[in-house]
Amino acid sequence: MLLKVENLSKFFPIKKGIFGKTYYVRAVENVTFEIDKGESISLVGESGSGKTTLGKTILRLYDPTSGKIEFDGKDITHLTEKELKWYRRETGLVQQNPFGSMVPHFTIFKILEEPLIVNKIGTREERREIVYNILREVQLSPEEFAFKYPHMLSGGQLQRVAIARAIIMNPKLVIADEPVSMLDASVRVEILNLFEEIQEKHHMSIIYITHDLSTTRYFSDRIFIMYAGHLVERAPTKELLRNPAHPYTKALLEAIPDPDPSNRFKFREVPPGEPPSLVNPPKGCRFKPRCPIATDKCDEEPPEVEISPGHFVKCWYAQ
Ligand SMILES: Nc1ncnc2c1ncn2[C@@H]1O[C@H](COP(=O)(O)OP(=O)(O)OP(=O)(O)O)[C@@H](O)[C@H]1O
Ligand SMILES: [Mg+2]
Repeated sequence: MLLKVENLSKFFPIKKGIFGKTYYVRAVENVTFEIDKGESISLVGESGSGKTTLGKTILRLYDPTSGKIEFDGKDITHLTEKELKWYRRETGLVQQNPFGSMVPHFTIFKILEEPLIVNKIGTREERREIVYNILREVQLSPEEFAFKYPHMLSGGQLQRVAIARAIIMNPKLVIADEPVSMLDASVRVEILNLFEEIQEKHHMSIIYITHDLSTTRYFSDRIFIMYAGHLVERAPTKELLRNPAHPYTKALLEAIPDPDPSNRFKFREVPPGEPPSLVNPPKGCRFKPRCPIATDKCDEEPPEVEISPGHFVKCWYAQ
């Protein structure tokens, strides 16, 4: 096992009203899961469900509010920035907007060399070799791209650079936060395929964050579903797609267009309504206000039950 997350919560304090009373946005609450070495996970949920917050908390870019994070057998929940230096090497992040995540006046070469310098790796010559190799790995010709600036690249090319930067230290875990959602549809599949190749070659674990369940079929071993800060269901990919058990997951799957081209615009019904406020979420199950099968019992937080091997559901009526 590589990563173990136990009852992890992240709340953001916000001040509201004329007296500046502090409220909390309960962006991630009581999340528990484990990930194996080399495993790929898709973390799926609609906008505001807490995916980025969970990812950044796991990477310790945010301090957890409560709970525990273990990486490679070490408790990293409360390590200081200095103590986290090794963890930064072992983990990588690819963000949604490749333009926003690059220093604009650095060349691609400098962007990629920087982590090597920070970690005191190699001589100048050796670093050049590493940077050129990683560029080849993400299918960018070093001769053509190494000395260009970010603004000279397309979104897809720049996302390849972002991937190169995330993996240049050969991390054990990479979190890719909506890495293709800002790219043209034509390059999305290429980038997802590249991720798959890299992940298999380096045997790293990857958490692929998306709000689009239809892209997870590409490469995830397991799918995790988030709703309003809760992890409501997780299961091996095929199992989850075939036997979704949480009413929210069922609704999500039904919202995917029919793959048959003649039925392209046929969507099935999704429960009406919106996700709840995370400042004052409903007691118990957060999907209750939209759930077609909810009862009074759902005012209590549902336990997480394992309905088949590795298939966990947080619902009183999981089946
Ligand atoms: N720094 C912050 N301060 C206060 N609230 C925040 C902060 N970051 C996120 N939130 C809130 O936490 C909740 C979860 O946000 P988050 O960005 O994790 O969702 P997400 O699932 O990544 O959404 P998206 O698909 O839009 O990226 C939202 O209600 C958001 O407004
Ligand atoms: Mg996000």
